[in-house]
Order: sequence, then C-alpha cells, then structure tokens
Amino acid sequence: MTLAANINRETVPKHIAIIMDGNGRWAQSQGQERLIGHHTGVESVREALKAAQEVGVKFLTLYAFSMENWNRPKKEVEGLMDLLVRTIAGEVDELDASNVRIHTIGDIDGLPNNCSDEMAAACERTRNNSGVNLVLALNYSAKWEILKGVKSIASEYAKGNINLDDITSEKIDQVLSTSGIPDPELIIRTSGEHRLSNFLLWQAAYAELHFTEVLWPDFKQDDFFRAILDYQSRERRFGKVSEQLGKDV
Ligand code: FPP
Repeated sequence: MTLAANINRETVPKHIAIIMDGNGRWAQSQGQERLIGHHTGVESVREALKAAQEVGVKFLTLYAFSMENWNRPKKEVEGLMDLLVRTIAGEVDELDASNVRIHTIGDIDGLPNNCSDEMAAACERTRNNSGVNLVLALNYSAKWEILKGVKSIASEYAKGNINLDDITSEKIDQVLSTSGIPDPELIIRTSGEHRLSNFLLWQAAYAELHFTEVLWPDFKQDDFFRAILDYQSRERRFGKVSEQLGKDV
C-alpha cells in the first residue's frame, strides 16, 4: 500500500509546482555525466504525473528550464533541449490518451525552433483534454514575466485604455504566463536546497513550501504523497489567526 491511502482527498492541493533539483549531483554521485541525471529525471516526471493523477491534483507545474539555465555548459544545454524535444515527442500519444492537457509557461519563442514547435504541437494536440494539466516551465523566469506584464499594463494605461483603478491583483494575474491557472497551494523543491530561484514569485504568495533532501532522479510517487501529507498537516491561515479559520469573521 502506498502513502496515498493516508491522503485526505477533500483537501488535495489543486495545483502543485515542483522545482526539480539535484539531477547533476545524482549523476556525479554515480560517476556519470550530468546529462544522465536529467535523463533519469524524466522517469521521476512520470512518477509525479502518475501520483498527481491518482490523488486528483488538477495542475502540475514543473520547472524544466529556467532562463538562468542558458549559462550552463553548451553541451548540457543542447542535451537538455534535445531531451525535452524527444521526451515530449515520444510521450505525447500516451499523455493524450490519458487525458493530460499540456501547457507551457515562459518565453517559448526564445527556445530553439524545434523545441518551441514540438511544445506548441503538444499543447494544441491536448487542448481539449480535461484530466491533469501538465504545465512545463521552459525558458521561464518569474522576474521576466512580471516585468513583461508590468510593461503591457503600462502601455495600456499610456494609451488611455485603462485607469489606475483597473490595475488590480486580478489584472496582474491576467498578464502573467500563468493566466487562467490557479496559484499553486504547494511548491516542492528537491535536493535539499531552500530557495525559489525565480520560480512563480507572484503566484507563490500563499503557497506552502515543501523541501526534501531527495534528489530529483530518486523522487518517487511516495515522495510526492509525502509532500501532500506535509501540506495537509499545516494550518493555512492567509493572514488570519487560528480561531478565525472556517468562520466568517
Ligand atoms: C536541475 O538539476 C534540473 C534541471 C535544470 C532540468 C530538469 C529537467 C528534466 C528532469 C527533464 C524534464 C523533462 C520534461 C519533459 C518535463 P541540476 O542539474 O541543477 O542538479 P544539480 O543542482 O545537482 O547540479
């Protein structure tokens, strides 16, 4: 029996986002090249997706490539792009058959053409699916999307299309690449690092954070369930005090 049996299905987070970290260290600990860690990490992506499907998580966001990742050695960047393209191309039939809808967030136009084309095709192919929404953060940076959003709002204001009072929290939600996707209630980071690393900074305002020492290639379904159980053990107060929770005060 897996840990899933202990999860309260009524309070499963609707959206879980994961910073998949530790692929390089995992590979090095095995005396392998870093890219082997990324390849093995794809198996953990499958595990996380299966676990999300099992307990009814509606949105699963994965930080697959950050804007800062371009600074890695050329060989690793090329290997990662190749892995992303081949994984999506190889898995899209099965993802479609299991009713998964694929989305991307980030500057997709800044990816190599074969990668952006493959992602666009996968999003289009699965757009009518109603199961888990798999959101891939690719060439993503929270500061980039906030800056881009602020510029688009400023431009609307300068043209006189909106007033100052139209600039609300909801308006900002709409100009981010996550528009239409609910904020994550839970963010998981693997490999013992305790940072958000420019990931979903606006959307993480009330997220619970779960950090685990497990390296991403070792991350299994039970690790996913453990994170949900940790989330369910916490009291989410949204600025209120305990006594106010569940009451209209
Ligand atoms: C971080 O580990 C991991 C990445 C930058 C890449 C993650 C990508 C995958 C697992 C492929 C996912 C594929 C799909 C289709 C979603 P790291 O290299 O920073 O590890 P380190 O901190 O140990 O060096």
